[in-house]
Order: sequence, then C-alpha cells, then structure tokens
Amino acid sequence: MRDRTEEVRERGFTDHVLVCTNDRDSEYAACADTQCDDVYDEVTAWLRERDVFWSRVHVAETSCLGLCSADGTAVAIHPRGRWYSDVRPGDVPALLEGEFGPDADRLNVGSDAPATGSD
Ligand code: FES
Repeated sequence: MRDRTEEVRERGFTDHVLVCTNDRDSEYAACADTQCDDVYDEVTAWLRERDVFWSRVHVAETSCLGLCSADGTAVAIHPRGRWYSDVRPGDVPALLEGEFGPDADRLNVGSDAPATGSD
C-alpha cells in the first residue's frame, strides 16, 4: 500500500464529485433508472468549462450511495461531505455553483489541503 495523499494534494486536487450510476435488478429504485448518465455529463461539462475538471476536481461514477430514488440521481461531493438525491441534469449547474461558486473558485471548503486558488 502506498499513501499518496501528499502527492495528490500537491497537484492541487481538492474535491471529488461522485455520481451514482448503480443499476440493480430489483423492485427498488436505482440511479440507473434515472438520467444518471446525463447528470454525469453535465457535471463534467460544467467543470470543463471552468477548467477544473481532473485538475482540481475529480469526477467518478460510483455504486449505490444509499440515497436511491426514482426521481433522480444521487451525487456526493467530498471531502466537504455533501450529499444530494433526486438530481436531474438541469439541476447540475445550480448544484455545482452552490458548492464551488460560479467560477469554481471555492474549491478548498471542507478540505485540509493547502489553499491553492483556482488560477
Ligand atoms: S442506486 Fe444510486 S444511491 Fe442507491
């Protein structure tokens, strides 16, 4: 095992957006039954437009976040410890703007990573 925490912090990475794309063969709702792929695409597009995608903010599809709903996708943002459910593609800009600021210049909230700004 390698502890790569410092290496990642030195790169300026501050946040991780997790988008649930879990599917299940059961009677219970799963994010795969919502527009989760479109939510994921909206997240990455918003971050790319602000030039922070994978430089400052990582994005990953994930399995169940425990917020299953037929009404939208579950999204978590860490390390700030934020959890959303029922997210639809059209919700993504407001969600990310609320978390990161309109220009994605609030990227160190909830992190003990060194403040590096968004320049
Ligand atoms: S299936 Fe997405 S939160 Fe459970």
